[in-house]
Amino acid sequence: MTPQTRTRVLTGITTTGTPHLGNYVGAIRPTVQASRDPHTDGFYFLADYHALIKCDEPARIQRSTLEIAASWIASGLDPDKVTFYRQSDIPEIPELTWLLTCVTGKGVLNRAHAYKAAVDKNNAAGHDTDADVTAGLFMYPVLMGADILMFKAHKVPVGRDQIQHIEMARDMASSFNHLYGEHFVLPEAVIEESVALLPGLDGRKMSKSYDNTIPLFAPAAQMRKQIAGIVTDSKAPGEPKATEGSALFQIYQAFASAEETAAMARAYAEGIGWGDAKHMLFERIDREIAPMREHYQSLIDDPAQMDKILRAGADKARELATPFMRELRHAVGLRSLSTVASSAQPAQTKLALPSFKQYREKDGRFYFKMVDDKGQTLLQSLGFTTPKEAGQAIARLQTEGAQALPSLSDALDTLSSIAHQQLLSNLELLTSNHGISQK
Ligand code: TRP
Repeated sequence: MTPQTRTRVLTGITTTGTPHLGNYVGAIRPTVQASRDPHTDGFYFLADYHALIKCDEPARIQRSTLEIAASWIASGLDPDKVTFYRQSDIPEIPELTWLLTCVTGKGVLNRAHAYKAAVDKNNAAGHDTDADVTAGLFMYPVLMGADILMFKAHKVPVGRDQIQHIEMARDMASSFNHLYGEHFVLPEAVIEESVALLPGLDGRKMSKSYDNTIPLFAPAAQMRKQIAGIVTDSKAPGEPKATEGSALFQIYQAFASAEETAAMARAYAEGIGWGDAKHMLFERIDREIAPMREHYQSLIDDPAQMDKILRAGADKARELATPFMRELRHAVGLRSLSTVASSAQPAQTKLALPSFKQYREKDGRFYFKMVDDKGQTLLQSLGFTTPKEAGQAIARLQTEGAQALPSLSDALDTLSSIAHQQLLSNLELLTSNHGISQK
């Protein structure tokens, strides 16, 4: 299969920590598995520029990059089959970040979750709104957009908290395409619904920020000790135990087959002692992890080898990034002064009329959306009780254009401001055309 016919799947891992079992179950294991699908063309990278936003300890950035790279390879990622690289080895990425910065509304970035959370926290504490907020944090979604758009990724597997960033990347892509012609692929977020959130030692979600993690490749003795520290209730051996709400059971389930899980559930009902259950959990995890642990250690012990693997990955990635960046520079006008200038607004003049699509959802209500000539959704309605009401709203948009928006706002979904600009220019096109056809 040629790369062109495969789905390009891309994801990044921020290099600020040591991978733990939660990362393994939630991201590494499913991603490595998916990377083996011959229909996908995988791009996996170490987001070390992103790491600088959160971490100002050089040694930690370096160490984490090594540990994460080694973890992915030890877990089965094959650098010959996928493109595996460090973000900071691709100078085209910060270059593209700037081009995207220039098509991204500042207001859109104001609404990005990470930035907004920092602002809300400052406001709640009575501090200056932007106290301790770097421009790096503010720009985080644009750098991420460049990661994704640079390699024309179709699918981006991420956690729920990242969906908004993928939507922003789509907006950046469509704004850029609108202004400068079709260059970018519009990416889609992929959320792995079936992957369990792993609880940590204290029963809350396993997360570095809760300090409740079990490192993926800790020495076996350490892992055994940490597993012994998982919270349980105080039921004595012999007393039946509930699987529901048991962190130990959930972690076991994430590693065990259906039969093994059922056997553990029976053991709970029959009153297995917590010490024995923990022993079984350790044995089950170690069965999967032990062979990889050795590979991991050999990679950690030979960082020069890891450098080489990652540099080869960067070379592969730059075979795409370098010519693409050349194309993009040309598109925006950063080009040789002797080339013949093409029209200033090619995309604008090519724009065809937007259309409306009406449909009914499972909830029984009637919806419509407005779609531009490239199939991009510009406007999404909420549900109407009758098709007639939906039709009336469409008619008003067609005749009144943007003037109809305020009074329809209750019936419409909110849109990002980039999409909003495109909406306005498309509505203008529609109403001006409407006027003409009526004459
Ligand atoms: N922001 C992502 C995270 O914290 C990491 C990341 C950086 C990423 N660039 C990306 C993920 C591009 C997907 C695509 O999880």
